[in-house]
Amino acid sequence: MKSAMTHSPLRVAIIGAGQVADKVHASYYCTREDLELVAVCDSRLSQAQALAEKYGQAQAWEDPQLMLKAVKPDIVSICSPNRFHFEHTLLALEAGCHVMCEKPPAMTAEQALIMCKTARRMGKVLAYDFHHRFALDTQLLREQVTTGVLGEIYVTNARALRRCGVPGWGVFTNKALQGGGPLIDLGVHMLDAAMYVLGFPLVKRVWAHSFQKIGTQKHCGQFGEWDPANYTVEDSLFGTIEFHNGSILRLETAFALNIPEQSIMNVNFCGDKAGATLFPAQVYTDRNGELETLFTREQADDQRHFRSMEAFVNHVQGQAITIADAEQGFVIQQLVAALYQSAETGMCVEL
Ligand SMILES: NC(=O)c1ccc[n+]([C@@H]2O[C@H](COP(=O)([O-])OP(=O)(O)OC[C@H]3O[C@@H](n4cnc5c(N)ncnc54)[C@H](O)[C@@H]3O)[C@@H](O)[C@H]2O)c1
Repeated sequence: MKSAMTHSPLRVAIIGAGQVADKVHASYYCTREDLELVAVCDSRLSQAQALAEKYGQAQAWEDPQLMLKAVKPDIVSICSPNRFHFEHTLLALEAGCHVMCEKPPAMTAEQALIMCKTARRMGKVLAYDFHHRFALDTQLLREQVTTGVLGEIYVTNARALRRCGVPGWGVFTNKALQGGGPLIDLGVHMLDAAMYVLGFPLVKRVWAHSFQKIGTQKHCGQFGEWDPANYTVEDSLFGTIEFHNGSILRLETAFALNIPEQSIMNVNFCGDKAGATLFPAQVYTDRNGELETLFTREQADDQRHFRSMEAFVNHVQGQAITIADAEQGFVIQQLVAALYQSAETGMCVEL
């Protein structure tokens, strides 16, 4: 990474200076000599100042529009709460910047479509931080699927579940700022990883059920305390996505569900030749009546988040690297919206 430099570093700014900005975005950007973190912006100036100081010489700003005009960054990371992804991404794209936006893309499918069209019109890269697809496990399974090892995959089970694991920080329980509960926060990750391995098959229809049974009753758990009186999102959601090729993807996601495990973030793929589990990557089948493991990784890749950032930056610099792009972000947001719509109306949603 620390190669001899032939150009001046790309100038990077971050909007939203919370925990993901710190642990992932700023800490990755500062590993590269070909990037320079020049500005950090947060609606709480003290928060922006703290992050800017932690990583060196960056300026601290409170207003993203003023920051973009004055600083003119090449790259902007959007790490503000979900409610602001749309507004901040559009501001940065219109200012001529490449954008890495945190997941989920937006609050609605309509917003994600406008973000996609704006990136195209401005000729800039818009990537989303769906980092689980950058795990070596996910890459390996995608390869196994494309080379036909699993045969026809007709059932996929994606699970993003926690037992009493409502986040005790941020705005995760506030529907107006977050857009929803575990589906838009956790489930969306396994949904993206599953869709990526499957090669984004065309969706036919979606149906779902959601529940709010625990978040409004309890107030503390594995990830701290929350206010049950202001818990306005679902606790759990169970959905099925049917594809035009006849296969189905079942998604189970929860902040709080009485399951034996503390948490599960995984996907299983069932093909007519073999099955696979995503984390750690494993492929299994049977031969002459004997169960057989064809392939297994000892443990799941824990560098996936940095790989996601690296893919984005290398893509901006012109390398032909697949990223979680604006088009796929729109498809994922469309699925999230359809799952919520089905859960709310009790009706199947055709896409
Ligand atoms: N990819 C991942 O695995 C992952 C992990 C964590 C968070 N995230 C996403 O990152 C985003 C932020 O999450 P977080 O955990 O860092 O939250 P956080 O609460 O720690 O940080 C959010 C920051 O945004 C600031 N902010 C709020 N409104 C703003 C505004 N209008 N303009 C500018 N700044 C504003 C807050 O002051 C805060 O500092 C969310 O969208 C979340 O879904 C993704």
